[in-house]
Amino acid sequence: MRHVHFDLVDSTNTQARRLAAQHPGERVLVTAAEQTAGRGRLGRDWQSPRGGAWLSLAWPMHNAPCTYAAASLVAAVAVVRAVSEVVPECAGRLQVKWPNDLLLSGRKVAGILCEQALGGIAESPATLVVGVGVNVDFDVALFPTELRHPATTLQRESIRPVMVEQVVNAVAACLVELLTEFEADGLSEELVEELRGRLAYVGTVRSFEQAGRVVTGSVMGIDGAGRLVIQNADGEKAFAAGELIAHAADADLNLGR
Ligand code: BTN
Repeated sequence: MRHVHFDLVDSTNTQARRLAAQHPGERVLVTAAEQTAGRGRLGRDWQSPRGGAWLSLAWPMHNAPCTYAAASLVAAVAVVRAVSEVVPECAGRLQVKWPNDLLLSGRKVAGILCEQALGGIAESPATLVVGVGVNVDFDVALFPTELRHPATTLQRESIRPVMVEQVVNAVAACLVELLTEFEADGLSEELVEELRGRLAYVGTVRSFEQAGRVVTGSVMGIDGAGRLVIQNADGEKAFAAGELIAHAADADLNLGR
């Protein structure tokens, strides 16, 4: 796999799209020590100082682009596995805030941004870009206070130094493994089960926002297609896209601590 590393770059997702267009059909891993214009979901900024694992994997899509809708859930499981491998002492406190925020002790430790780019040249496959940001070792107190969800780092939650490079390598390896399986077999029952075991806020009443509409209800879990199931007076509904709204007290729920 082609690997391009930047010391300083705007966004590894932006660069992965550019490099994918230059090297059609190739898998490209783009990493950076620092991003100046890191991008988050829903058009938000992503703070990316030194001390984080900032990486994007450009993945040529060999199936119809619409079949990759669940790729961000696959990526969430890959990041859970990678972090658990590098920092096993944190594994029990890792949760997924649907669809793909990683929480550690209730605070956000990693985010995932999946994008699709159409093949530029005739015959070249469209590309899925999976961007992953993991807060490894920096001072989260430097973050703006208006961040939607309280943040933490692996270093802060673990009992020993954590190397950025180790996290990057583990995330890249797990992504390649799980995306390969996903591309061949789709979203497996095993992966959905793993995700269910990690899902945050199950059994609690939450607000959920989709395209500007807010629904409040009990978080029931995810269905076989990875959609979030919410129940309220109107019955049960499964959502394929949207966002669970975090509560200010979430970071204090401190799972297992
Ligand atoms: C989110 O939680 O909103 C998603 C954050 C994704 C951040 C990563 S950092 C590496 C890659 N490059 C970007 O510009 N964004 C993703």
